[in-house]
Amino acid sequence: MDRSGSPRAAAGVRFVTEPDGTVTAEHVADIVRVNVESTLATTHEVLRLRDPVVPFRLVTVSSLAGFYAMPLKATYAASKAFLLSLSVALGEELRAEGGSATVLAPAGLATSPEVIPAIDAQGLLGRMTTIEVPTAVRLTIDAALKGRFLVVPGVLNGLLQRLGGLIPDRLVARIIALRWRRARIRPTRHSPLPA
Ligand SMILES: NC(=O)c1ccc[n+]([C@@H]2O[C@H](COP(=O)([O-])OP(=O)(O)OC[C@H]3O[C@@H](n4cnc5c(N)ncnc54)[C@H](OP(=O)(O)O)[C@@H]3O)[C@@H](O)[C@H]2O)c1
Repeated sequence: MDRSGSPRAAAGVRFVTEPDGTVTAEHVADIVRVNVESTLATTHEVLRLRDPVVPFRLVTVSSLAGFYAMPLKATYAASKAFLLSLSVALGEELRAEGGSATVLAPAGLATSPEVIPAIDAQGLLGRMTTIEVPTAVRLTIDAALKGRFLVVPGVLNGLLQRLGGLIPDRLVARIIALRWRRARIRPTRHSPLPA
């Protein structure tokens, strides 16, 4: 993981950056393999095994990042956008047989001790948009059982998702770029930047 606590560290794929902080093509390909290829393979396999008699509830973990083009996390955000689009389409197919698709799109999730420095690096907003895993799971299962499509846990995160839809994509990307760059240069409580 990125020792500086850069937002890259929360990319959903625990790739390791080079000592000089650069990311190799292999690291980027890993994001696509884990987030897109393996999710696609798993999804198609569970769909193949579903019981046609029982309404099938498909749950996919995307990210709030999937709603925006994200400088510095471009591949990650694009991979999560893929999952959103896929889920819309599969949800429509499942609806025809009484099932549904649900997508969890969290901002920050306190999944492991390694994620905490990345959240910290984003300052107060990072902490305010971070949700505990059990809360996200509970909301997602509730939504899936009700056949609801989207779960964006946290009131602030819901607002950000709606707001993002009202602002032109390139302006959102510019705001995000400014925010990530500031986060990358800010030392954190858990992992101060090396000198
Ligand atoms: N943490 C956040 O702030 C956050 C925010 C928004 C969305 N999400 C999404 O929530 C989900 C869970 O997050 P997380 O923080 O637990 O993600 P994570 O630490 O990257 O791990 C998620 C899973 O992916 C596997 N994985 C990661 N890199 C891999 C690689 N290179 N090759 C093979 N498997 C790999 C991990 O396997 P191992 O168990 O073997 O390590 C783990 O099972 C992800 O889909 C993530 O994108 C997380």
